[in-house]
Amino acid sequence: MKGIIIYKGKYGATRQYADWLSSALDFYAVEAGYEYQEQLALCSYIIIGTSVYLGKFQLRGWLRKHRQLLAGKKLFLFVVTGTPLHEKNKLLAYYQTNMPAELRDKCQYYFVPGKLTVRQLSPVDRLVLRVGAWLTQRNGNKITLEDYNGVKREYIVPLLNAVKGAQLPPHPLYRAK
Ligand SMILES: Cc1cc2nc3c(=O)[nH]c(=O)nc-3n(C[C@H](O)[C@H](O)[C@H](O)COP(=O)(O)O)c2cc1C
Repeated sequence: MKGIIIYKGKYGATRQYADWLSSALDFYAVEAGYEYQEQLALCSYIIIGTSVYLGKFQLRGWLRKHRQLLAGKKLFLFVVTGTPLHEKNKLLAYYQTNMPAELRDKCQYYFVPGKLTVRQLSPVDRLVLRVGAWLTQRNGNKITLEDYNGVKREYIVPLLNAVKGAQLPPHPLYRAK
């Protein structure tokens, strides 16, 4: 087996990106926790997809647990966020605080827009969102209480190209003799 996609989200945005990647690359997409250790061990490429809640990756614990195995793989990550893509410092901080130190330099990572449907949220998530919106209403970093949907297939294209590029055999001119 060449590659696998391991993902975790809550309301479907991360799963949607994982499904698009799965059909484009012909890799299995497996929700984190349902993978077999042997699947991970056999794969050369691992694509990890996670959404962010209160600044934390859904896969934060999983990444820590599997960091030794992951360190030996060609690793890609996509992070699904409500934070606009132009807020680069904030997004970078998510990466640096959630990614285990030993994986930080080994991984190609991408941020993609998520979606929010307030009436689908659990009571706890709805409350957290309301409190967040109330706390941030006075600064420019406002958290929205309105629905949005930024999930589009086109956002996976840079990641798709990176994975496809990594799978290409070396050009014959550069192949070691
Ligand atoms: C309670 C709550 C907290 C959130 N916290 C963050 C956050 O800290 N940073 C961020 O960029 N997005 C945040 N989001 C937005 C989600 O990451 C976004 O809705 C994403 O699409 C969720 O993907 P999923 O359905 O695959 O879990 C939050 C959303 C909710 C409901």
